[in-house]
Amino acid sequence: MTGVLDDKVVIVTGAAGGIGEGYARAISEAGARVVAADIDEGGAKRVADAIQAEGGDATPVRVDIASLESCEAMAEAAVATYGGIDGLVNNAALFGGIKHESMLSGDFDYYLKIYDINLHGALRCVRACFGPMSERGGGAIVNQSSTAAWMPGGTYGITKLGINGLTRDLAMELGGMNIRINAIAPGPTDTEALRGGVPGEIIDGIVSQMALKRRGQPEDLAGTCVFLLSEASAWMTGQILTVDGGHTFRV
Ligand SMILES: NC(=O)c1ccc[n+]([C@@H]2O[C@H](COP(=O)([O-])OP(=O)(O)OC[C@H]3O[C@@H](n4cnc5c(N)ncnc54)[C@H](O)[C@@H]3O)[C@@H](O)[C@H]2O)c1
Repeated sequence: MTGVLDDKVVIVTGAAGGIGEGYARAISEAGARVVAADIDEGGAKRVADAIQAEGGDATPVRVDIASLESCEAMAEAAVATYGGIDGLVNNAALFGGIKHESMLSGDFDYYLKIYDINLHGALRCVRACFGPMSERGGGAIVNQSSTAAWMPGGTYGITKLGINGLTRDLAMELGGMNIRINAIAPGPTDTEALRGGVPGEIIDGIVSQMALKRRGQPEDLAGTCVFLLSEASAWMTGQILTVDGGHTFRV
């Protein structure tokens, strides 16, 4: 998809590794200038440096999506560095190392924290970025959901179900500004976070029930992300695209 994002400026949150790194690299290969944003400043710099070394144009930014001020500073850095914002990928979330606690007896403050990062964090980034996007005549936003939204996935799964609702709702508010917003719902994707958080035999059990008998790789998701940022999806908004090797089938 070389060139489909030429002249675009795209912010990717959670870009310090895993799926976010895959998105940032693919978006750069498609021609965009990339703001690699993460709370892990060193990881974001490593990814931006790697993109630069491969001939792309990327800049690292530290962001904590728990803070609106931090999200606004991220948007300001994108405008100061590259002159505007055309795309936002809301990929950052609490996933690697997350504790799966009982809905009935787990720590309530931790429950609220997962919502605050995984759901409200995406909204904070949209609030920070829609103004500069609108000034450019429009833009495209990709939210990161999960197939966990359609399973008993505990607090994490509910936050991803919330991302699906947020995507649909914001589509209505943003559409008049020619800003599109869609979501990707990945199945089990082979990142350090997945390997560290879910026992291998459980992942293997899930994979054995999938139509395509393998874990996804970040590259398996990146084409959909580039498509949703590009003009090829110009009349799509408010949609949740499942990319999961045939793990879930919804009617
Ligand atoms: N790997 C999978 O199987 C899978 C499946 C479905 C959905 N997802 C989703 O894909 C995304 C990336 O997953 P991953 O596997 O690469 O995991 P990951 O844990 O490596 O990625 C999350 C990134 O978000 C960053 N982050 C966390 N809190 C932040 C904050 N407050 N501010 C800014 N950045 C913050 C982390 O530093 C990390 O780089 C997440 O949204 C996850 O929920 C993953």
